[in-house]
Amino acid sequence: MISSKLFEPYRLGPVTLRNRVIRSAAFENMATHNAPTPELEAYHVSVAEGGVGMTTVAYCAVDRSGVSFDGQLYVHEEIKPAMKHMTDAIHKAGAKVSIQLGHCGNMTHRRTCLCTPMGPSSGFNLYSPTFYRGITKEEIHTIVRHYGEAVDFCRECGFDCVEIHCGHAYLISQFLNPTLNRRKDEYGGSLANRMRFMNEVLDEVMLHAKDDMAVVVKMNMTDGYRAGMSMEEGLEVAKAINAHGVHGIILSAGTVSRTPMLILGGAMPLKTLAHYMDPWRFWWLKLGLAIGGRIVIPTSPYHELYFLDWAKRFKQEIPDAPFIYVGGIQSRKGAETVLNAGFELFQLGHVLIEDPAFVNHMKEADMDYKSACCRSNYCVGRMYTLDMKCHKCVENMPRKLQKEIDKAEQVNASLNHWSK
Ligand SMILES: Cc1cc2nc3c(=O)[nH]c(=O)nc-3n(C[C@H](O)[C@H](O)[C@H](O)COP(=O)(O)O)c2cc1C
Repeated sequence: MISSKLFEPYRLGPVTLRNRVIRSAAFENMATHNAPTPELEAYHVSVAEGGVGMTTVAYCAVDRSGVSFDGQLYVHEEIKPAMKHMTDAIHKAGAKVSIQLGHCGNMTHRRTCLCTPMGPSSGFNLYSPTFYRGITKEEIHTIVRHYGEAVDFCRECGFDCVEIHCGHAYLISQFLNPTLNRRKDEYGGSLANRMRFMNEVLDEVMLHAKDDMAVVVKMNMTDGYRAGMSMEEGLEVAKAINAHGVHGIILSAGTVSRTPMLILGGAMPLKTLAHYMDPWRFWWLKLGLAIGGRIVIPTSPYHELYFLDWAKRFKQEIPDAPFIYVGGIQSRKGAETVLNAGFELFQLGHVLIEDPAFVNHMKEADMDYKSACCRSNYCVGRMYTLDMKCHKCVENMPRKLQKEIDKAEQVNASLNHWSK
């Protein structure tokens, strides 16, 4: 057996993880009335029992205006007992637990966030579809305060760590993006100005995290399209985040509005996405997907460790930053490659949806162990409407969706170099 640090403990700020694996924030869509459910708890307990060092409850909004899905959590007193029940159960199963905190900004509809959606500047959101307005300075200060209060809330709920979402074109990332942020005040214009909101949030978060909560940040290395945040700017953003003394920086890329498949790797299963949408509420989206889905949601060819080259560049240019790798780890060899490249921790998304016990299975097996996840992204297409699930757990799969899954599996198998 080759010596490996994979199953060695790691100190993430004030929190010690039993190994180097974190379940990434992958939206579960399992909340009811924005509150945790037994289903959400059971999934995270299964991942904890399955061997991860830490699991991450995905995409919790810091306040009501930041919610973009009905099945999403947001910080409010009423859910505290259920949140505490969930974190206790996860701890009992042996893992630490983190929660991703964010604000969707313009990626919502007034029906869901119960107010006019806000972005750094006003505009039109094709996906809802809805007009959104520019956020005022007073509202910026309020949301910054809510991030800090959310950290206290999470501590009281029993979380060990908070993950601040600065990527994927949610509110902080919208401020960083020069096209979405056309402000003329001190929050827009130069990169230093576009980073101001993020810096204020991180100041507040670090103040409230004190010395007993770990803080990690998920950021974009690049937005992945010409008018978005470039990689050169991404490097400056990483330096700014690192200067706050956060305990981990997760390197992702892509935006939910323009380049979602860069985040996830592969193709969006358009038939799955359209199939589950409510035809009355989303008829225009279903129609749009049928006509021009591949143009609006371009494919990003999948290969294992698809972010590794970019992530290595960040590591090389900012060697003292505690970077965490995410993106296409599908096998023991993939995990070892990432650790050997100098990353101390990595995150897993897809493979833990397919098999919550992937980490234990990897531990028990030899170096050739790999996930059976075929990266069809069925889980992604489904998650926008229903609870997150692997296609293998769905009974009576409609034929057209099964065909779509099979086709994606064939394409990915031909591209995935570890599978050969
Ligand atoms: C079903 C699903 C939902 C996701 N939801 C989120 C999310 O809420 N927040 C986030 O930052 N990333 C989200 N992601 C992205 C993952 O956290 C991760 O960055 C990406 O899938 C790459 O890692 P992987 O190849 O190990 O899956 C999601 C991914 C999947 C598959």
